Amino acid sequence: MAQLWGGRFTKETDRNVYLFNASIDFDKRLYLQDIEGSIAHSIMLEKQGIITLEEKDAIVKGLRSIRDDVENGSLEITDEYEDIHSFVEANLIQRIGDAGKKLHTGRSRNDQVALDMKLYVRSEILEIDSLLYEFQKILYRVMEENLDTFMPGFTHLQKAQPVTLAHHLGAYFEMLRRDRSRMKDIYQRMNTCPLGAGALAGTTYPLDRSYTASMLGFEMPTFNSMDSVSDRDYVIELMAALSTVMMHLSRFSEEVILWNSNEYGFVEIDDAYSTGSSIMPQKKNPDIAELVRGKTGRVYGHLMAILTTMKGIPLAYNKDMQEDKEGAFDAIDTVKECITMFMQMVDTMKFRKDVMKDSANKGFTNATDAADYLVKRGMPFRDAHSVIGRLVLTCLEKGKSIDEMTIEELKEISDVFEEDVYDAVSMKTCVEKRLTIGGPAPEAMKKVLENYEKYLKEPFFAKENYNLGGDIL
Ligand code: ARG
Repeated sequence: MAQLWGGRFTKETDRNVYLFNASIDFDKRLYLQDIEGSIAHSIMLEKQGIITLEEKDAIVKGLRSIRDDVENGSLEITDEYEDIHSFVEANLIQRIGDAGKKLHTGRSRNDQVALDMKLYVRSEILEIDSLLYEFQKILYRVMEENLDTFMPGFTHLQKAQPVTLAHHLGAYFEMLRRDRSRMKDIYQRMNTCPLGAGALAGTTYPLDRSYTASMLGFEMPTFNSMDSVSDRDYVIELMAALSTVMMHLSRFSEEVILWNSNEYGFVEIDDAYSTGSSIMPQKKNPDIAELVRGKTGRVYGHLMAILTTMKGIPLAYNKDMQEDKEGAFDAIDTVKECITMFMQMVDTMKFRKDVMKDSANKGFTNATDAADYLVKRGMPFRDAHSVIGRLVLTCLEKGKSIDEMTIEELKEISDVFEEDVYDAVSMKTCVEKRLTIGGPAPEAMKKVLENYEKYLKEPFFAKENYNLGGDIL
């Protein structure tokens, strides 16, 4: 049990209390952020004349050697330490002696952990964004190849009007676009540096907070030290945005599961991305999609957990806030894994164009267009709606689709029908005439794809455009 704070205690901490209190098990993944923040802090302390050049050099060298040894496996982060901050500081003191004891001057673990978590979350936001970007590129490719792959569009899970596969997938492209803009938004709002806030009330040392902020790639220091150590809004915002990403993936999963079923047969998931049954030899199950759908619940759970944890916390730091980490880490890991698996599954999935087209032909998806045909010949829409309703009923009795009805049969329902109706209600016409912006017509979709192409060429969130610090490591 290595602690930073034994002085005012006369007894050892109870072993179980120590373990209950400790966070090393999960905050060990912040070792790099902790070391980076400490290097920045020590460089600033020296610049401000608070420690000497020799002390600073020893600290920086010592911290880098800790990083190297953790990375090459010769130094293990064990639960002998309370948290990652204690681990780094204790090891530093072991390595460089007294100079190491000066590192924590003008700093508290409260601003330290706030910084570590911000550094971690900030770079994960970029990781998640770049995965969403990869997924968009896959969708773009499938869309480009399927501008005229007709399929039924559904409302209430009932065939409604014909669309194309490109159009259907475009809806997900848009969802991902919003997801990515949420990432950017959170990033920009959180990009202020809490280091130097101390325990809660700043410090009497003449720290240069702007200097540490810029070394660590932040836009500026935070403006209120009490808020700095107790703000976890950015974790909440990220959990909310990740919940939305999962909601999108889960809806997509649901569609893949349906489409992959024997009844739909719209897609075939690649063998490498599906699994079998231990008893039923014929099965090929969409487990990836089901797991993504299932894991959505767990990410939502982390959002509720952190919201609930934060709601009763008086200013400023309270230990409750240590609970921000496990959920956030798990949500981030889960979402990254889900996007990766899901997009690879989509990338390798076979879209069965004939089945889709056949299905679009069968469900009266051209009924609205048939009504529009009558409207264009002078019939009020409400009357046309009723005529086509009767037509559909007759079709159902005869087991035919609208375009399989003879002109005589059609004329029995309304004498407004002429030979040109067949062209007007053909799948091709139904889709190709839906030219409104955002509609499924290949011509309309082409314009949208041109826009997407530009968007994908200039990913507004390209990593190289963002300063993530790290130079001092
Ligand atoms: N492990 C703590 C956390 O994650 C670090 C901060 C501890 N600060 C304190 N005053 N106990 O929040």
